[in-house]
Amino acid sequence: MTKFSTIYAQLTADGTLQSDPAQVAVMDEFDRIQKALNTPVKTGWFRKAPEAPKGLYLWGGVGRGKSMLMDLFVQHIDDVPARRVHFHAFMQEIHAALHKAHQNGVEDAVAPVAKKVAESVRLLAFDEMQITDITDAMIVGRLFRALFEAGVCVITTSNRHPDELYKNGLNRQLFLPAIDLIKQKTVVHEMVSPRDYRQDRLAGEERFFTPISEETRATMDAVWRDLTGGEAEPLVLRIKGREVELPAYRSGIARAPFYDLCGKPLGPGDYLVIADAVRVLMIDNIPRLSRSNFNEAKRFVTLIDALYEARVKLIASAAAMPEMLYVEGEGTFEFERTASRLREMMAADWGQPET
Ligand SMILES: Nc1ncnc2c1ncn2[C@@H]1O[C@H](COP(=O)(O)OP(=O)(O)OP(=O)(O)O)[C@@H](O)[C@H]1O
Ligand SMILES: [Mg+2]
Repeated sequence: MTKFSTIYAQLTADGTLQSDPAQVAVMDEFDRIQKALNTPVKTGWFRKAPEAPKGLYLWGGVGRGKSMLMDLFVQHIDDVPARRVHFHAFMQEIHAALHKAHQNGVEDAVAPVAKKVAESVRLLAFDEMQITDITDAMIVGRLFRALFEAGVCVITTSNRHPDELYKNGLNRQLFLPAIDLIKQKTVVHEMVSPRDYRQDRLAGEERFFTPISEETRATMDAVWRDLTGGEAEPLVLRIKGREVELPAYRSGIARAPFYDLCGKPLGPGDYLVIADAVRVLMIDNIPRLSRSNFNEAKRFVTLIDALYEARVKLIASAAAMPEMLYVEGEGTFEFERTASRLREMMAADWGQPET
């Protein structure tokens, strides 16, 4: 077994990664978890679930390399059944499983659903732990408790300290036990680095056109023609018995106005399905957002997270550059990540490889 810190050192030595003191500083935690997970579990007469090693809650500013380190770790822990999943996507699965159990008459399904998850993994790596939804907030505590009891180790990345999760959320007091549990079962480590690797990679702006004008509209039309030959038909996605329609679609490329995507009551599940269905998404007319369209801003954050995770290429026209799109109102903190991601996604080499 090669120690994870050694693997990181090799990658920085051969120039694949730049050595970063803030990343080096978290190596001890990864090595500790790797060692614990690779230690054979004692079995005996009174077999209980193995005690899960303390996990890791890695948090900090955008573009610091949290997800990169976590993904690298999951790739390199040999023989340990592990799963890396975006937190939103995981919660969608959990809600679907709970729904099914309820239909079959199971009243409190959280424990059995968690047990099922725990059967196949010893390590769960969640990217972007964030709680914005009351339905998530109300089950995360019980869900995590059941996972920990079943011996699952949890690693997560987040932009917030656990104490800041679900801040100002409805019925937040009911979420506080979940925070205590996270702090008890993971080492909370802040990645403090002056380095934002996304800003470093900031390239051209050939995928993000501002401001909204006749000229940008013509440019978007030209890009669309260039990519698709100009022909299009609507793409209708069926999501949990509902239909979400993207007005223009052709061979993996979709185009929709901002309002169609974020002005209607769509949620994380819808955006995951959209991100899954397209290779390139063109969004027209992203407006400046503010307090008065907080819901649109919140949906836009969720949409960009889903697109980023699925590495969907984004081409957009907007009223302003990313950092200036949402500067006042609730959720400006979350929007910083969105702006940082938009910057990275704008780069000409970003996204899924062409097939
Ligand atoms: N040491 C490094 N050397 C080179 N590239 C790096 C390094 N660390 C991170 N990167 C790159 O920088 C980009 C941002 O990193 P990453 O996505 O892991 O940031 P993050 O901390 O998870 O940000 P966010 O909070 O927005 O999710 C990625 O493309 C990643 O591969
Ligand atoms: Mg990340």
